[in-house]
Amino acid sequence: MNAPLHNPRIAEHPVDPIFVERWSPRSFNDETLPESALLTMLEAARWAPSASNHQPWRFAYGLRGDAGFDAILGSLVEFNAAWAVKAAALVAIASKTTVAGPEGDVPNAFHSFDAGAAWANLALQAHLSGHVAHAMGGFDRARAAAALNLPADYQLQAIVAIGRRADAAALPEKLRARETPSGRVPLAQIARRGAFA
Ligand SMILES: Cc1cc2nc3c(=O)[nH]c(=O)nc-3n(C[C@H](O)[C@H](O)[C@H](O)COP(=O)(O)O)c2cc1C
Repeated sequence: MNAPLHNPRIAEHPVDPIFVERWSPRSFNDETLPESALLTMLEAARWAPSASNHQPWRFAYGLRGDAGFDAILGSLVEFNAAWAVKAAALVAIASKTTVAGPEGDVPNAFHSFDAGAAWANLALQAHLSGHVAHAMGGFDRARAAAALNLPADYQLQAIVAIGRRADAAALPEKLRARETPSGRVPLAQIARRGAFA
């Protein structure tokens, strides 16, 4: 007999509902996104914490119909492009890999960690604004870097599709069954008192 399914979106401990209600759908409706609404999400991202407050995150974005959107879309792998084409906005997130030291630039060991914090802020603000944000790692980095004029000391981290959610039926057939919130491994499996293992 199969083990009973763990309810995918029930918190084990009390948390604000936003943490379990945010998820990453792929189905977007036709609505456009005012640039001001996107700037609100990027504003949330910029208030993320970062090592020594270096704020290494950088964003290049496009709104559906503009050249920036098409440039980002053109770098996505086919699987992602098939659904992200309907997003209202695409945001490429990069991070600056170096910081200025007394004797020139030195590596910033935390640039990826910090960019991840910015992405989380963005996603939560999108949810609060009644939108959805879906991160993607599936894109051609060299192509995106060229299309977006990425400076040499920056690293692309992810591309985010943003818009308003539509019904799963609006998706290409092969994606419909996957349009459901995912669960999480139990907290006891990832957090231990005293040591990792
Ligand atoms: C860095 C990163 C890369 C991801 N890459 C992709 C991707 O290329 N395509 C995709 O459909 N989803 C992608 N996802 C979405 C994850 O699969 C999703 O966030 C995860 O399954 C958890 O589900 P939830 O966001 O709905 O809670 C990515 C998410 C992150 C954070």
